[in-house]
Amino acid sequence: MPQIPEKIHELTVGQLSARSGAAVSALHFYEAKGLIGSRRTAGNQRRYGRDALRRVAFIRAAQRVGIPLATIREALSELPEERTPTREDWSRLSAAWRTELDDRIKQLGRLRDHLSDCIGCGCLSLETCVLSNPDDVVGERMAGSRLLPVRREDKDS
Ligand code: FES
Repeated sequence: MPQIPEKIHELTVGQLSARSGAAVSALHFYEAKGLIGSRRTAGNQRRYGRDALRRVAFIRAAQRVGIPLATIREALSELPEERTPTREDWSRLSAAWRTELDDRIKQLGRLRDHLSDCIGCGCLSLETCVLSNPDDVVGERMAGSRLLPVRREDKDS
């Protein structure tokens, strides 16, 4: 990854892309969604502050663990505009997501544990399936078509 000399305070979109590993199109997308900002030069070229590197790293890490863009944007909006965010600012943001991440880990664990049953089942029940209804309480205990309620006419036949 190319280093950006400390004396450079603003980055072009190409530099930001090369340094962050995010595609230029992704950076444009983040900007269009209000996750990062830039100023325009007289020639209408984008220039990003150095803190955009951390913002992009934060966005990519959050996306990797499945945090929705709207949640990321909300978190980033809490960062100070008038100064470069400090390590404490970033720690505060990450800490706020701990509960959400714990929930996701729990959900993924459930999905992992029931995936084989679901592949064999295929019902995708909105009431009981951990695939189609990941927060389902019954789905947490069991999976599979055996959880489908027995219809009265099936019982009688
Ligand atoms: S497919 Fe998931 S319980 Fe049937």
